[in-house]
Amino acid sequence: MRSLSMVAILLGAFMWASTGAAADPELGKKVYEKKCASCHGADGKSNAKVEQALKVKIPALAGSALKPDAELLKLVSEGKKPMPSFAKSLSKDEIDAVVQYAKELATGKVAGGK
Ligand code: HEC
Repeated sequence: MRSLSMVAILLGAFMWASTGAAADPELGKKVYEKKCASCHGADGKSNAKVEQALKVKIPALAGSALKPDAELLKLVSEGKKPMPSFAKSLSKDEIDAVVQYAKELATGKVAGGK
């Protein structure tokens, strides 16, 4: 009986850990480099070549990623022309994590780049 409740506790802890990974910094970085850096630059300061090609201004995340989380989550899910919508290509956890990473780039907590 005792070992059974241990299993239950471990299982509970595991499930907690996996949902708690919503804002995993490693995941956020990985998603950012794959999905966002091409336009926003590895350091969040934008990519001039893409700006020219798309004829748009890509705002530096330093100014734009300091909005409330809810707004950023919505923005990344729905996109904002010409920025694509990521609701289908990223999971909710990935969107959470990448928004946190963008905020960290914006506040200089992480430098980004390689
Ligand atoms: C195809 C290029 C492109 C990609 C890929 C892209 N963005 Fe953007 N992003 C833009 C452009 C262009 C804007 C400016 C849109 C506007 O305000 O007109 C923008 C704006 C933003 C803003 C500021 C929006 C505001 O309202 O101030 C944030 C934050 C942002 N992007 C985060 C991300 C994140 C996080 C990802 C990756 C999941 C990402 N972007 C991927 C092009 C892109």
